Amino acid sequence: MCGIVGYVGKRNSADVLVDALSKLEYRGYDSAGIAVMEQGDIVVEKCQGKLDNLRERLAVHKPQGMVGIGHTRWATHGEPSDINSHPHGNKRVTIVHNGIIENYLEIKEFLLGQGYHFVSETDTETVAKLLDYYYDGNPIKTIHKVVNEIRGSYALGIMFREFPDRIFAIRKDSPLIVASGEGENLLASDVPAILKYTKNYYLMEENELAEITADQINFYDPHMNPIEKEVQVANFDMEAAEKGGFAHFMLKEIYEQSKAVSTTILPRIKDGMPDLSECGLTAELLKGFRKIFIVACGTAMHAGMVGKYLIERLARIDVTVDIASEFRYRDPILSEDDLVILISQSGETADTKAALHLAKDHGAKTLAFVNVKGSSIARDADMVIYTHAGPEISVASTKAYAVQLAAMYLLTFELAYANGKISKEECRSYMEQLTAIPDLITKTLEVKEECQFVASKLLNAESLLYIGRGLDYALSMEGSLKLKEISYIHSESYAAGELKHGTISLVTDQMPVIAVATQTDLFEKTVSNIKEVKSRGAKVIVVLKDGMKIEEGVADHVIKIPQVENIFTPILTVVPLQLIAYYTSVLKGCDVDKPRNLAKSVTVE
Ligand code: F6R
Repeated sequence: MCGIVGYVGKRNSADVLVDALSKLEYRGYDSAGIAVMEQGDIVVEKCQGKLDNLRERLAVHKPQGMVGIGHTRWATHGEPSDINSHPHGNKRVTIVHNGIIENYLEIKEFLLGQGYHFVSETDTETVAKLLDYYYDGNPIKTIHKVVNEIRGSYALGIMFREFPDRIFAIRKDSPLIVASGEGENLLASDVPAILKYTKNYYLMEENELAEITADQINFYDPHMNPIEKEVQVANFDMEAAEKGGFAHFMLKEIYEQSKAVSTTILPRIKDGMPDLSECGLTAELLKGFRKIFIVACGTAMHAGMVGKYLIERLARIDVTVDIASEFRYRDPILSEDDLVILISQSGETADTKAALHLAKDHGAKTLAFVNVKGSSIARDADMVIYTHAGPEISVASTKAYAVQLAAMYLLTFELAYANGKISKEECRSYMEQLTAIPDLITKTLEVKEECQFVASKLLNAESLLYIGRGLDYALSMEGSLKLKEISYIHSESYAAGELKHGTISLVTDQMPVIAVATQTDLFEKTVSNIKEVKSRGAKVIVVLKDGMKIEEGVADHVIKIPQVENIFTPILTVVPLQLIAYYTSVLKGCDVDKPRNLAKSVTVE
């Protein structure tokens, strides 16, 4: 959601800024712009639409200079338009901003009273004008004054005309890194933007300020004292953030799931047992919880749904799964004996972050499952299990979900063993089966062509149902979300046994049904539900495990995943569901990796 970049160095900054912004496209945006210091003047080029629109503009007039800031905007205050696009400001100070300024109307009113005029509807313009109002020749003091007056979230890239060789940056509740290269330094919302230039970067803490020139970066703490920061080294290269021969990032990331799951589980096995001690999870701690809450959004919440079934079944601890935006306002009953698990790929999701802080305020222990190293949620939680998916660029989450499930298996087995619900032998046997999962994911990818075929049959559907029971139901929620977000076909996932209480009235020959029936203990019951929809004319696609059979005529198409114990089917079944969604989107000609209206990192409420 909004991408920020900044550059100071030896190259034409317009080129670097646009290139770096292209690496942040996955975050979702509807307009783009840059500001470049050209012979002592700040020159802005910005427009609504994709980066190609900006490139076209720059082909006509490209500001020349080696210092600049850039932005991709995801509209919050004011529609997507040229005027509302960032950068904002005037000849003296110009900024790019990610986040939301909650008290912008108050500030705007004050500035109007001081004779300022506003051209956009954005909250950002008020910050730019407030910087101008307070500017006294000292950028650092001015920025501090302004951040003390604004409320909300911000990552800011700032240029002052009187300091033509540098840019400034500050953040609160929105991600921002500062990268250091050879004779050039950068600013970005995320690591992929800097990888072409350097792998070394610094994580900005809340309200730390950076002053960046070509050969120096000065950091200041919130009291304006100079500070030293520890350099981080990106553990993935450009290739990991490129498509590598695949048509889309989403397909590449579906294929990377096997490796990502291995990387998440293998280092956490000791003597055949799960070992999460590096994350602060000791057997002693895992014994004491009264209740577990899992809180997340979207796909991450769906991983939490699978987690509920797993933990309750094996560790016999009561688990509640909450959508973060509901949890934070429903006044949950939390105590010091509870564990709250926050799941987030980006580690920056605003609602999940707020839920984490709420849980901490109530004294509950907090554990985060996070993919992005050093992100806010990872830093604020008491304990963190890093999932090792590597960079996920496609907006639709795939490999991040797979590794969230992998981490959930590790936690479930460790919880179940620590609480005496499974023996050491049982735990070892589960771990052995978990270790075999990466190869089975690779094998599951062999259903690719069948998924392509199924996708060709779904193209004209207006609406679809996904049904299942137990773990199959939890998993089908993710299948349904994947399809709707990238193919724009409406779909819903339903507990198969619940259909007849209302929803079955929707079923006709125009409503395809994808039934997931991999749970052997629930198989017959799910088949009865499949027959109910079949007899109402629905075309039915059924996902089964190898070795399972369904009567002739009940399914129009059967897709099989490899044979595994019931608890492991979600991490395999998700593969055909992701592929069906992917091919449906491709065949419909949709923008697979950047679906409309969506952002990768949802940093607003
Ligand atoms: C869907 C998707 C979203 C995210 C959700 C939470 O494919 O990616 O539903 O799962 O926005 O994001 P994170 O995991 O970054 O908190």
